[in-house]
Amino acid sequence: MMRKNIEEYLRSAISDAQIIEITIPEHAQFGHFSTNVALRLAKARGKSPMEVAEDIAEKLRSATPEGFFEKIEAVSPGFVNIWLTAEAIQASFKEIYETGENWGRPMHEAAERLKTVVVDYSAPNIAKPMGVGHLRSTVIGQALYNIFKFNGWNAIGDNHLGDWGKQFGVLIAAYKEDGMPEEVTIDYLMKLYVGFSGRMKEDPTLGEVARKEVKKLQDGDEENLAIWRKFYDVSLAEFDRMYALLNVSFDHVQGESFYNEQLPGIVEEALTKGIAKESEGAIVIPIEGYEAPMIIRKSDGAYLYPTTDLATLRHRVSDLNADRIVYVVGNEQSLHFEQLFKAAKKLEIVDDQTLVHVKFGLMLGEDMKKFSTRAGKTVSLFDLLQEAILRARKVVDEKQPDMSEEERQQIAEAVGLGAVKYNDLSQNRQSDIAFNWDRMLSFEGNSGPYLQYAYARLKSILRKGEKVAAFNVDMLKDESELQVILRLQEFPEVIEGITKNYFPHHLSDYLYVLAKDVNTMYQAVQILKADEAERNARLALIAAAAQTLKTGLELLGLKTLEQM
Ligand code: ARG
Repeated sequence: MMRKNIEEYLRSAISDAQIIEITIPEHAQFGHFSTNVALRLAKARGKSPMEVAEDIAEKLRSATPEGFFEKIEAVSPGFVNIWLTAEAIQASFKEIYETGENWGRPMHEAAERLKTVVVDYSAPNIAKPMGVGHLRSTVIGQALYNIFKFNGWNAIGDNHLGDWGKQFGVLIAAYKEDGMPEEVTIDYLMKLYVGFSGRMKEDPTLGEVARKEVKKLQDGDEENLAIWRKFYDVSLAEFDRMYALLNVSFDHVQGESFYNEQLPGIVEEALTKGIAKESEGAIVIPIEGYEAPMIIRKSDGAYLYPTTDLATLRHRVSDLNADRIVYVVGNEQSLHFEQLFKAAKKLEIVDDQTLVHVKFGLMLGEDMKKFSTRAGKTVSLFDLLQEAILRARKVVDEKQPDMSEEERQQIAEAVGLGAVKYNDLSQNRQSDIAFNWDRMLSFEGNSGPYLQYAYARLKSILRKGEKVAAFNVDMLKDESELQVILRLQEFPEVIEGITKNYFPHHLSDYLYVLAKDVNTMYQAVQILKADEAERNARLALIAAAAQTLKTGLELLGLKTLEQM
């Protein structure tokens, strides 16, 4: 990678720097690459930043092989700006072009050990409609999963459903009371739950009924298990409808119930190891720095969310051989995961594995207030996605009245659903984000439709141009062309970076800049009307840019269209 090469040259010119940051400026007038390392070193060297920058520039000029750097400049207040020769940039394009759809994958040897990452995402709760928080987890989690896979990891996607717990006592009791109708939906289950638990507050005997039902369920009572299974199946069928629309899939769907039998063992182990203790009848794990301990068994004997998560962690480390476990869950569960990771370490459930809570903010309405319908009800996600498709369809109908009905619908689905995903993935996940239809579906600015359209436009140019046979990279001389090559060079680094910082918006930012660079290029140079030698080289560059756009959009979960 170019940036790596430059870093090596810089290292040999500077012996006293720890970190050498190299950026790619937005405009080539500030260099193809730029570093602020002189500003960092000035104090220690007892010189002015400009003096240090001059010194670095001078060393760099004499230390590097001929033909690599075009120009090296020290610029006030102490930047070193670097331009590469056209030849060096052109030479790097060959590899990109030849790597084709694998461009962006890591370049290291295939023999390197495959590492395993478990991505815990989506994880809605049975018998409840999926919320917008779960939509965020699903979209962000799937993108991270795709990126890890592409980067050469053995990625395991696990949907840790909330499918166990005392709410099922309430549900089973209410369902029996209602005469156990055949037809069950999530909405119906919600009504049962709200109705029964509301009455429970006034009538304590109902609470007793619910507790008995959950006890029976946990003890393996066949009737209750069958009812639970029915609720599970109905819920999963509804979730699957969403997953199908979103093109999301998992390697495992192992919800909380999967770990039920291991919970007593976890508590016992924690007690034996002296890590947990009794407190007012409950079993808790105290954790340094936190006032409230982590409760793993309540005084009534019930196990909790953290207990299940400890068992889940053990399974992932011991049975799935995870090197890394990534939890894509909202900001509001920060405390839970901080405590969980510490407790798991104390219990020696994890050793040197990396555990990460990939947190995200709320999805809010257009006005940055709580996300709800006009009537104040919670939004059905399925309806929301349908609406996205409908709105996109309107735009497509206007733009492409001559296309067939089927084609228009296909585009509308790709654009509508893509817009919803891109809206989520193009913003820093830790912030609260707004759900703004107009911005999401706009064909301008940093949006899903803009990038899908940019891709389709490149494909249309490629269709019109003759098939690129041999081409000569020396033909790519314009600054705008060199800029596109440099941008493509950056792609593997962006991917690699996301496996470390879990920020999918770095990829969307990158794709947006790439699309703009290509745009600049075809305003600056002729493509189809150029002479054959130039046309061939430019078409090759366009093909490589289109390929990287496609790879990137697909990693984010967006479909690309050849025409739109
Ligand atoms: N079902 C949980 C919820 O809706 C999310 C589970 C996340 N994963 C985990 N291993 N705790 O809040």
